[in-house]
Amino acid sequence: MPWRKPFLPPSSLSRADLSRRAYEVWISETMLQQTRVATVVGYYQKWMARWPTIWDLAAATEEDVVGMWAGLGYYSRARRVWEAARMVCCVADGDGDGNGGVLPGDVDSLMRLPGVGRYSAGAVAAIVFGVAAPVVDGNVLRVLSRQMGVLGDVKADRTVVELLWAAAGELVKAVAGDGVSERPGHWGQALMELGSTVCMPKPNCTACPITETCRAYAEGLALANRGGVRI
Ligand code: ADE
Repeated sequence: MPWRKPFLPPSSLSRADLSRRAYEVWISETMLQQTRVATVVGYYQKWMARWPTIWDLAAATEEDVVGMWAGLGYYSRARRVWEAARMVCCVADGDGDGNGGVLPGDVDSLMRLPGVGRYSAGAVAAIVFGVAAPVVDGNVLRVLSRQMGVLGDVKADRTVVELLWAAAGELVKAVAGDGVSERPGHWGQALMELGSTVCMPKPNCTACPITETCRAYAEGLALANRGGVRI
């Protein structure tokens, strides 16, 4: 995954390097929200070759940006990515409250940008800024619901989804300890990867490193429960 890089504390990076790193994670995670990793790699590489920095993206035309997104679906997402880039680079409204090309480092500020929801906000905050923000995608919902033995439909039941986001928030705080580190980003990405490679709808429990804490495994539910957590 070309967007995966070693974590460096934001305080150790120049503004340009921090801007670049946040931009890479934001674009890749936005693409990954709707498309598989294998497909995203090609789009991501083309995108970065064309617009290597958020400034380049902000200076592009809306048409070009939407065109580059073609094939990924949800064109409105491309438009919002472009709008957000212009705001962060202060090109859009020129009111001086942009962020000098650096995406904000906290979830609430990130979520004020067009098209940035709690998933991509969490990804940028945790992976780039090293703060204890939960990053929960469909795979993580499945992993956590099994770990916790939550019996509900993670896709249809909003209460279950909210419960699992809250649990992820508490867990990542415990994982992170105090201060800024690689731990929140590693934890979130490890869960996403576990969900996409091992704890799949049809789980491969023999390959799983966290069966010891898994309630579904203990109760023999994981295998009974091939389509998710609905039993
Ligand atoms: N799926 C979406 N984003 C991911 C990431 N950063 N790592 C692993 N799987 C992902």
